[in-house]
This record gives sequence, structure tokens and C-alpha cells, in this order.
Amino acid sequence: MSTLSFPLSDPSRQQSDADRDAVLAKPGFGEHFTDFMTHARWTVDDGWTGGEVVPFAPISLSPAAAVFHYAQEIFEGLKAFRHADGSVWTFRPEKNAERLQRSARRLALPELSTEDFLASLTAQVSADEPWVPAAGGEDSLYIRPFMFASEAFLGVRSAHQVDYYVITSPAGAYFPRGVQPLVVWVSDSYARAGAGGTGAAKCGGNYASSLLGKKEAAEHGADEVLFLDSETHTSIDELSGMNVMAITKDGRILTPELTGAILEGVTRDSILQLARDRGLEPAEQKMSMDWVTENIASGEITEMFACGTAAVINPIGEFRSEKGSWTIGDGGSGAVTLQLREELTGIQQGSVEDRHGWLHKL
Ligand code: COI
Repeated sequence: MSTLSFPLSDPSRQQSDADRDAVLAKPGFGEHFTDFMTHARWTVDDGWTGGEVVPFAPISLSPAAAVFHYAQEIFEGLKAFRHADGSVWTFRPEKNAERLQRSARRLALPELSTEDFLASLTAQVSADEPWVPAAGGEDSLYIRPFMFASEAFLGVRSAHQVDYYVITSPAGAYFPRGVQPLVVWVSDSYARAGAGGTGAAKCGGNYASSLLGKKEAAEHGADEVLFLDSETHTSIDELSGMNVMAITKDGRILTPELTGAILEGVTRDSILQLARDRGLEPAEQKMSMDWVTENIASGEITEMFACGTAAVINPIGEFRSEKGSWTIGDGGSGAVTLQLREELTGIQQGSVEDRHGWLHKL
């Protein structure tokens, strides 16, 4: 049972219907925010209290708040979809609740129960229901829960006061070019996460450490960066904010195994299940970059793609590195990649049967 409730005390909207319609006509990704945000506070003395839905507004924090100094912060990402009958659904939110709990343990933050997490999503999306894009397209309402150390204290220890918020943002395609084959730069210089570190946690620090690699990728004309393992610098880990998968000529679907340095993506897990359902043989294994490029060159690897909540499934057309460049297949969008994408988005949008019970009504 949920112990927190999230009442909406003032339902008046800050943005006009016309402004909202203009945003929904061309949402982009992560650029526009809705009328409300959902909040709860944890203190070491009282635990979680104070659930509420309030107008979306700047957060006032002490410059000494621990998050600014020691990055004690975690987040989640999921989406709300409108179905043809007007109802609003999200996808496998219990997985996000569990991951937020794992991230909280790793970052020494307090855990939020699955029930309270689900209640916060329902409260936020109900308040901002007009912001959920119309059925029939691929647009959705991106949901961003996050939690951070708000205690004003400069000593290094886990904070005694923590705030949790949920904000929402209408979302179209994650990549500015839309769902087009990506050029991916393989970083020789940087790793995203190391053994024993926070790589499996969804914390801001992992994304901060990816940014220079992403900048390097852009300098080489690439859309994304692929990080290799920090120890041997040979095996592929993940992209800046997405997992990576390969499809082989003999019907296997391969993705790097979860080593503790890789994010356990909900989309990653869902694709492995959908692949199994269609007779592809999924394998989570160590994948050296040399092996990947050799198998691209020989035609054994026929397709590769990036996957995550925000990016959904996005084909990869080419890898570039200091050693050379490799075009995957004909450099276009692979047929199996597109079939998996269509099936996953179809389930999310309610047009394909949800045979695994992944949808959750908000
Ligand atoms: C997501 O896919 O939801 C993420 O959090 C990744 C981020 C690149 C937007």
C-alpha cells in the first residue's frame, strides 16, 4: 500500500491550451515541461512525508545542498502513452521502481517503495493528462522521477534530507534527425563507468562522465558515443544513455552482459523477451569491439541498434574510431530492428497485444 498521497491543491494551469497545443504539435525531446510537478521529502528523523502535486517551478535550494558538491542524485525515465480509447498507460513501471531502489542503495539515498513510486506517477500524469499526446502517433509524455540530497551540509556522508520530484515533458523522437541510422564514435579516450563504481545505477554522474565522449563523437561527425570497459578497453559497454544490441545472420541477438558497469535497461530487457518470442536466440555476453568489427566486416553481424526508454530502438548504421570505420549491413535501418521497434511501440500504444502484461494504467 502507498504510504504517501500526492494531493493536487491548486489545479489551475500555468500554460494556455493554445501554448500546449503548439508544443504537442512538435514536442522534440526534453525541451518543454508541463504545468505540474510532484514532490515528497525524506528526512532521517521522519522518513518520507509531504507528498503533493504543485505548479512546475524552480526549486529553491541552499548553495550548500549536498547534491551540488557530491552529486548524490538518481533518476528514472519512463513514458505515458495515450491509447485509441483515450486512456493513458505506462510501460513496466515496477521495473523502474525497482531500479530506482537499487540506484538509491548504491548512492546511499533512501528507498521509495514501489507503491509510493507508482502513486507519484499516477498523481503527476493525472494532473498533466492534457499533456499526453494524442493516440495514433509515436509521441508520448516522458516521465522523469528524480531524487537528490537537499541537506545543506558540506561534510561527506549520506544526506539527512532528500527530495524526490517527478516532472513530465512531451516527447517525440530522441535524436534530432528522427529514427535514422546513427553514426557511433567508439571512444578510445574515456570510459563511462568502472568496476565497483556506479555504472549500473541511474545516477547523474554516469551521464556527466559520458559528456566529453559525446562531444568527441560530435567532433568526428557522429551522433553518439560507444564506451568500452574501463579495465581492458576492449569490450563494449553502452552508449551515452542507451544500451546496444547486435543481430547476426544466423538469428542471434547479442548484447553486452550486465557487468555492474552497464545500466539494466527496461527496454533492453523487453527486447530480449520480444526477441525470444520471435525465435531469435538472445545472448548476453562479453562483446569485444574487435570481434564486433570483424563480424560486421564479414557480414555475420547484419544489424545493430541502440535501445532505451527515450530512444526506444534506433538503428546504428556505422561505427567510427581512430582505427577506421565500419558500415553495418548497407548502412540503413535493418529489417529485424524495425520489426522489433514496431512491435514494442505497438504494445506501448495499445495496437499490439500486451501478452506479457507490461502495460500499467495511470
Ligand atoms: C531514458 O532513456 O529514459 C534515459 O534516461 C536516457 C536519457 C538519455 C534520456
